[in-house]
Amino acid sequence: MTALIVHGGAWAIPDNEVTAHRTGCAAALEAGWAVLEAGGSALEAVEAAVRVLENDPTFDAGVGSFLNAAGEVELDAAMMDGSTMLAGAVAAVQHIRHPITLARRVLDSDYILLVGAGAERFAEEQGVELCASDDLVVERERQRWAAQRAKPDFRGRDAFHTAHDTVGAVALDAHGNLAAATSTGGIPNKLPGRVGDSPLIGSGLYADNETGGCSTTGWGESIMKVVLAKTVTDRLRDGEHPLDAAKVGIEYLGRRVNGLGGCIVLDRAGRVGWAHNTPRMAFGYRTHDTPPVIAIDQAELA
Ligand code: GLY
Repeated sequence: MTALIVHGGAWAIPDNEVTAHRTGCAAALEAGWAVLEAGGSALEAVEAAVRVLENDPTFDAGVGSFLNAAGEVELDAAMMDGSTMLAGAVAAVQHIRHPITLARRVLDSDYILLVGAGAERFAEEQGVELCASDDLVVERERQRWAAQRAKPDFRGRDAFHTAHDTVGAVALDAHGNLAAATSTGGIPNKLPGRVGDSPLIGSGLYADNETGGCSTTGWGESIMKVVLAKTVTDRLRDGEHPLDAAKVGIEYLGRRVNGLGGCIVLDRAGRVGWAHNTPRMAFGYRTHDTPPVIAIDQAELA
């Protein structure tokens, strides 16, 4: 039994960006599914899927990420293996083409979370691909940055009405192992050094073969307060359907901390779930008995 679900962020995706979000999610799903079909592990599948999303400037991860207040890209990413409970994460890193691959190397080390310059040194030692800062910057984000600098009252929460967001994936492989991965450029105009939910195990992602896997997206300062990914996957332990678990988690996020976001979920039987309280969320899934589904909002599939 195999399953894969990916997301390209929860926000008010405008009609003229729907096609790019669908295309990007479909490509990520295809890359991750190819790994599962070839007998690869869930960990390999989520890495492959997220690398595709990091390469696509449509999304706030890798190329095309938001710029921080200093006009630079600073990236966060994490990965978790539900069979071993090993986890790896990087935060506030620069010059890394694929932060999710660096997170995977951290997962294979004695550590869980590396930040900033130390993480970049680790990348060099590990032979992880480095790049120039400008290689990750697109003109759209230079313009957004300039416009936001002129609006000092802009708040992080406002971004989810106007701008793109985090990516992620959750997979179940043929051996019954789950894995989750999340990667982001964070929020626009963030203070240098600001870290959101995405690289934090339990908030931005979680995977445990005893329950399920989850990757989240949305306003990190709210998601961290409710430890969203762990909150959602804990509900799967006694057999709750992932759709219900996701819905309850997002309802709690909104009600308790005025949070905004979404999540994708798989349980250990390969059942899929998702929910968001933003106007739209880009996501796609495929399972051993379901052909690829790509959607842009909940209502489409409800
Ligand atoms: N969820 C992405 C962030 O807030 O950084």
